[in-house]
Amino acid sequence: KKRTVDNLRSPVVCVLGHVDTGKTKILDKLRRTHVQDGEAGGITQQIGATNVPIDAIKEAAKFVKGFTELAVRVPGLLLIDTPGHESFSNLRSRGSSVCDIAILVVDIMHGLEPQTLESIKLLKAKNTPFIVALNKIDRIYDWQPNAKRDVRDDVKGQSKLAMNEYTKRTNDVIVQFAEQGLNVALFYKNPDPNEYMSMVPTSAATGEGMGNLMALIVEYSQSMLTKRLMYSNELQATVLEVKAIPGLGTTIDVILINGALREGDTLILAGTEGPIVTQIRSLLTPQPMKELRVKNTYIEYKEIKGSIGVKIAAKDLEKAIAGLNVSVACQPDEVEFCRSEVAHELKSALSSIRLQERGVFVQASTLGSLEALLEFLRTSSIPYSGIRIGPVVKRDVMKASVMLEHDSQYAVILAFDVKIERDAQELADHLGVKIFHADIIYHLFDQFMAYRDELKA
Ligand code: GTP
Ligand code: NA
Ligand code: MG
Repeated sequence: KKRTVDNLRSPVVCVLGHVDTGKTKILDKLRRTHVQDGEAGGITQQIGATNVPIDAIKEAAKFVKGFTELAVRVPGLLLIDTPGHESFSNLRSRGSSVCDIAILVVDIMHGLEPQTLESIKLLKAKNTPFIVALNKIDRIYDWQPNAKRDVRDDVKGQSKLAMNEYTKRTNDVIVQFAEQGLNVALFYKNPDPNEYMSMVPTSAATGEGMGNLMALIVEYSQSMLTKRLMYSNELQATVLEVKAIPGLGTTIDVILINGALREGDTLILAGTEGPIVTQIRSLLTPQPMKELRVKNTYIEYKEIKGSIGVKIAAKDLEKAIAGLNVSVACQPDEVEFCRSEVAHELKSALSSIRLQERGVFVQASTLGSLEALLEFLRTSSIPYSGIRIGPVVKRDVMKASVMLEHDSQYAVILAFDVKIERDAQELADHLGVKIFHADIIYHLFDQFMAYRDELKA
């Protein structure tokens, strides 16, 4: 079928920015959820995805002048949440690589920060357009929030005192963007959307500007990205996360951008020990407006079309690797071709994970978090000799115990967000293998450093 303007897919919108600028909170406000409250340490450590139907966007943008008159042609938005913590640059790059447009969140009280700059680099590298959410405007002194109106009127209605601070901080941010070679303007002062990226004042606490932000994303996507958003039958799908779910086994969270997936399809994807060939057992999405990374009641599909965030249950996904594309073999004789394609893509991805002869043993719940942890260890010059995704079992302790003979300071398992089996812990205690466990990456690092210092003392 021909690609047409009458058949657009949802734009994939990646939310990027420095830690704690309010990325998850913005999505919570839009979804009316409380995902951020449930995060360990209030920190996002995985990529998330939310399918937002167009009606929800219209509801959010009902106070936005001119939006109700706009002919909306996109079926919704697929929002991708990413972590802002420095150790998750792999997840930021993964998120940004699948997106059509981004929301770059900047804290108005802080301006551009290190991971804002890193995000800008990622966006520049792919030429991805973005809209800046200048968040936390409610923290401006004497600010009087009014979320039930267009943010332009909200801003106009502020006291002179609040307005002065708002203007000063906004201009500072514009200058900081200019220093990065980027033209940014407040959306209501944008002289030319081809030349200037728009910036929207927002507050995820009060809801101010949220409607304007969504309206701008829709408007920009429809007018500037039409070609890119024309639905295509050719499969384009990327694994975001690999995750064990009680009752479902190991599943993959996939961003299906173009094309369709069906129950029973033969899926080929990268695995730590070579390409995996498996049949789709179920295609699941959370309810609309719910986060894919949070445990939900799922909706099950026989067939599903892009763009959408979908969880796939199938056999043999335990060794699947996130961040790479999946293929479907329509005919049995296509399997070999798909395998070699996937193998090739995998080879370049795995070459980045190099194990040292001597080092700690690292385990994590998903490949995304494993990669982030390894990145953290690399920058801290902590070598690692073994990696695994999944709970700590006796076999892992045996492997880690090898270091007792070589370099006992590394007879350590760093376990991130995974269970430790009781008999594994007993064996570790017996052999003298240390297991450190945490659900925030840098806590693991702190524990290990303290332990090393203790050994030296
Ligand atoms: P990471 O995912 O860890 O990078 O953080 P994030 O960018 O998702 O920020 P998050 O949503 O976790 O918010 C960080 C903190 O800022 C939380 O305590 C939020 O309640 C608070 N916050 C977010 N947005 C606003 C806002 O607009 N105004 C105020 N006052 N606080 C906000
Ligand atoms: Na946070
Ligand atoms: Mg977050």
